Amino acid sequence: MCGIVGFVGKEGDALPFIFDGLKRLEYRGYDSAGIALAEAGGIALKKTRGKLEALGQIIGGMPRGVPCGIGHTRWATHGRPTDENAHPHTDCSGTIATVHNGIIENFQELKQELEEKGHRFASDTDTEVIPHLLEEYGAQQDLVKAVQRAEKRLSGAYAFLAICSTQPDKIVAVRRSSPLVIGLGEGVNYVASDFSAFLSATRQAVVLENGDMAVVEPDNVTITDMAGTAIVRQPLTIDWDIRQAERGGYAHFMLKEIMEQPDVWGDCLLGRTEGDRVVVEELGLTETQLEQVRRIQVVAAGTAYHAGLIGKALIERLARIPVDVAVASEFRYQDPVLQRGTLVMAVSQSGETADTLACINLARQQGMPTYALVNTVGSTIARESDAVVYTHAGPEIAVASTKAYTTQILVLTLLALALADVHGRPRPDLVRSLLTLPKMGADILAEMEHIEDMASRLSTNRDVFYIGRGLDYALAMEGQLKIKEIAYIHAEAYAAGELKHGTLALIEDGTPIVAIVTEDSVAEKSISNILEVKARGAEVWAIVDDRLKTRVPVDHLIPIRVPNALLAPALAALPLQMLAYWTAVKCGQDVDQPRNLAKSVTVE
Ligand code: F6R
Repeated sequence: MCGIVGFVGKEGDALPFIFDGLKRLEYRGYDSAGIALAEAGGIALKKTRGKLEALGQIIGGMPRGVPCGIGHTRWATHGRPTDENAHPHTDCSGTIATVHNGIIENFQELKQELEEKGHRFASDTDTEVIPHLLEEYGAQQDLVKAVQRAEKRLSGAYAFLAICSTQPDKIVAVRRSSPLVIGLGEGVNYVASDFSAFLSATRQAVVLENGDMAVVEPDNVTITDMAGTAIVRQPLTIDWDIRQAERGGYAHFMLKEIMEQPDVWGDCLLGRTEGDRVVVEELGLTETQLEQVRRIQVVAAGTAYHAGLIGKALIERLARIPVDVAVASEFRYQDPVLQRGTLVMAVSQSGETADTLACINLARQQGMPTYALVNTVGSTIARESDAVVYTHAGPEIAVASTKAYTTQILVLTLLALALADVHGRPRPDLVRSLLTLPKMGADILAEMEHIEDMASRLSTNRDVFYIGRGLDYALAMEGQLKIKEIAYIHAEAYAAGELKHGTLALIEDGTPIVAIVTEDSVAEKSISNILEVKARGAEVWAIVDDRLKTRVPVDHLIPIRVPNALLAPALAALPLQMLAYWTAVKCGQDVDQPRNLAKSVTVE
């Protein structure tokens, strides 16, 4: 939900750095973008609707060698994506500029108050009240004091940066819910929505907490609360490989992120097993904490919710511990009943999803232990949970989640095995097989040459059904989401056995069905369901355990080798992702930046 970047140095050229940082944050929103530089003479500003390349075409005339500036890439909340609504926004005098991520809920009343005082607004955004408030509170004389006063007037969940041309030696940053991190350089410091914006310059970073205000100067970063009381935040070192945040020769980030899954799985599993054991401490919990778990409540959104469903099946089957999985945006408003012994577990790639975070806060208020399975190190959900386990998938840039999803599945598998051991449940020796997944995944990806043709055919359809049973049904749910979000093809997932209770009426000649058959215990049943839809004329694409391939009479067969049905989900996700990817390419869609979406959903 919007990306923000700031650069302030003793000397240096903020413009190219900010533009490059915005490129790395473009996944957070991409309907408009802009940059403002603070010079003694005033604010230099360029902004436009459209993607970053549109901004790239208009910044040529901006001043170079200016060492203080801020930039923004937008995902619209208030106000359509137009040039006027693009950030940064300035005050009447053109000396103050702000960029903002989040929502100012009381902007209407503030706007009216400011208009009555003579302020003239140029946009429909909530953000524009900030520079006008700063002007009203004397930012030209003292930016820091003005931010302190203005912040008290704002309500909502947001992060913003402010610069002023009378004090071009600082950026003032405020965090109230939406994420902000500071990069520490030498004679230069950076501030951004996430680390990837400045990883090319520094790996030393400080994560701001909610309610923090930072005055970022070339040689100094001062963090206080909003009243000005100093706060110490320890720096951390970010070990992400910068190359992971680049496309590396692939046509799209999504394709690159699909292809790097075998390596990423290796990173995710590294050091977390010993013989047939899971190293419990590597999951961020102690054996005693695991022993105390009587029930698990997973909260998550979108793809992470689908990973939670796979986790439910694995934990219940292996450890016999009941698991509920809830959509975070529903759970938080349902006045949920949480019983003692319940571990509330957030699954999230970004670690910033507002609804998921709200569920963690709700659980904490009820005194429940909370546990985060996240990808982004230092993210809010990671920090606000009692315990955390990371997926180690590296930065995921494509809006459609791929490697974060499969690594979530792997960690949930480790958790299921660890819970089974601690609770004394006999279980199959899956750990060694788990370690073979990176190699098996690489083999599957190496055999994907037919998938482009299969996708070509699928791309001619307006609607598609995904079916499966058990784990395959949970996978079907993820498959349908992938194709909806990037190919814009309407898709629905059904428990295969449920078709005949209504939906079978929709099946006619040529109706496309994607079937998944990896669960050996229900394979016979799934095959019967495939025969039922075939008998009614459906055209079937099927991802099938290699051992069953001769038994599944389908039009487009994608056989995969799996070591065990319980370990099939991460492997079966690969062709599902590839099918969605190539279908979107064949439909001519913008794969990495699908319309209306953004990567990190920090608004409700
Ligand atoms: C879909 C997708 C989204 C996210 C969802 C939750 O491909 O990526 O459905 O899974 O917005 O995001 P996180 O995992 O960051 O909490």
